[in-house]
Amino acid sequence: MARRISSVGVVGLGTMGAGIVEVFARGGLEVVGVETTEELADRGREILQASTGRAVRRGKLSEEEQQALLDRVTVSTELADLAGADLVVEAVPEVVSVKQDVFLRLDDVVAEDAVLATNTSSLSVTEIAAGTRRPERVVGMHFFNPAPVLRLVEVITTPRTDPEASEGVRELAERLGKKPVVVGDRAGFVANYLLFGYLNSALAMVEQGHVSREDLDVAMRVGAGLPMGPLTLMDLIGLDVCHHIGEVIYGHSRSPLHRPSTMLGRMVTSGRLGRKSGQGFYTYASAGSGEVVPDELTPADHGDVEVPEAVGVVGSSPLAEDLAGRLDEAGFRVTHVPDAGGDLGPLASVGLVIEAQEEEPDPESEPAGRDVDDLFAELGEVTAPGTLLTTVNTYSGVALAAISGRAGETTVLRVHAPTPHAQVIEIGRNHATAGPTVRTLREVVRRLEAVPVVARDRTGLVVDALLVSYLNDAVRMLDEGYATVDQVDTAIRHGLGYPMGPFAMIDHIGADEVLVIAEELYSGSAGYQPHLAPSPLLVEHVLLDQPFTEGAAAGRG
Ligand SMILES: NC(=O)c1ccc[n+]([C@@H]2O[C@H](COP(=O)([O-])OP(=O)(O)OC[C@H]3O[C@@H](n4cnc5c(N)ncnc54)[C@H](O)[C@@H]3O)[C@@H](O)[C@H]2O)c1
Repeated sequence: MARRISSVGVVGLGTMGAGIVEVFARGGLEVVGVETTEELADRGREILQASTGRAVRRGKLSEEEQQALLDRVTVSTELADLAGADLVVEAVPEVVSVKQDVFLRLDDVVAEDAVLATNTSSLSVTEIAAGTRRPERVVGMHFFNPAPVLRLVEVITTPRTDPEASEGVRELAERLGKKPVVVGDRAGFVANYLLFGYLNSALAMVEQGHVSREDLDVAMRVGAGLPMGPLTLMDLIGLDVCHHIGEVIYGHSRSPLHRPSTMLGRMVTSGRLGRKSGQGFYTYASAGSGEVVPDELTPADHGDVEVPEAVGVVGSSPLAEDLAGRLDEAGFRVTHVPDAGGDLGPLASVGLVIEAQEEEPDPESEPAGRDVDDLFAELGEVTAPGTLLTTVNTYSGVALAAISGRAGETTVLRVHAPTPHAQVIEIGRNHATAGPTVRTLREVVRRLEAVPVVARDRTGLVVDALLVSYLNDAVRMLDEGYATVDQVDTAIRHGLGYPMGPFAMIDHIGADEVLVIAEELYSGSAGYQPHLAPSPLLVEHVLLDQPFTEGAAAGRG
């Protein structure tokens, strides 16, 4: 059985160290925090005081509890004051030599069986351990920011770690109400590895002009239900930190998924570091502020937008019925043509047509009178010039634009399932799409009480492309044996604050659906993006009709 850890030390009382001290003190442990100067030690105590003061104001802590908590904390500038600690966590800057130096000095101070833990996000725990005289007592104890709020603690073991040491740390984390996940030493561990793959794909989208920064962020926050959009998150983490972690992960994986973005590198070199410098992807009111202020990239207000009064819906799929009902409720005059093979004459006077037939019709039923190409060719003739033509299916909008003869007015709409935030409808444009077409469709989407996102008409547009690539990456991590389903889902929920982990999400969407999109994304990438190849384990789960999570398995039984 692991030795019970009861007295702890923290070295470095910056953003993370001060938060880690709070976690320990909240859990009733005596904590000694060490900084380099009296001034910084006092600042560490002030961070702790401010944070617990906020908890008191929110009614989460009484004043007596706050005082008792603060009384359990001693700050110092002497590592020697850590002599009695069973565990010391270092949270000094992310530089191997600095961390190794702290551990080497601690070697002489703490008891032989004390555990030394590093809070590193991206360095090799094995390398840090190798620089000490007790590599078997060294583990990673990776907290997430803000440490008192996010419950994940990744406990990282190296090939030399004594299981008793990692078990002691795991048990302590659990005692503190955290969600520990014990995994081996690998760049990015679980949560950051998956997060940075996704962030890098998102970066590539803005870099290539696929989508605007605002639309990208809203797509993932509202469309995928994430706590914030990828660019807002990177600005918060710090672009220098993102760049560094990205490079470390790329050094490990060598996957094009993690290839460092040149745009990000340039932003860092030019001093755009995110919120902390006042400028990143967005511009902030001042350095350190979270208040976004308008800049040259802020979308212009084009004034009044022309919105058609009459809208046509073609098809009898559930989505066609749903859209027809919602358009009607929103005050549009709706002409619903359930049978695409029927008379299209009634559509002559509408200003917008939405094609929403079953994409894969039931083979038992009568074949439709027109296929989608014939339908769009005819719509181009029947409808008045200027009428907008759209499809909610995964057909190529460019091909339909060519067939209809309405290059400037034919686009794709991707309607996503609503999340607790709202619903996103993506508008897929091509390079010939006219500005007024996009502005009108944005307004129609808003009137349906959904959130518009405009992107280039490419497979998966924004939400599916980013989400499915990330889900596939999680399955690959499982397939490689690095972490279990439960560990990955726990890490993502409690480290990143996502509403569900990737495996729960795959089971929720349906592994077969995820596979279909993954295959489309992969074939659309023409082999340039090997990481998009569907994981063989995903294929296995689809073929064998097996969910990933036990919850989903129980739900079926
Ligand atoms: N900031 C995050 O979101 C985050 C999240 C998880 C992990 N981490 C990791 O936590 C560690 C610390 O990050 P941070 O953001 O808190 O950095 P920070 O710069 O806010 O704090 C580092 C502190 O360490 C102190 N320090 C430096 N050398 C020291 C020494 N020899 N002895 C005692 N104190 C010393 C500095 O004075 C500073 O106050 C890094 O390894 C980082 O990768 C950071």
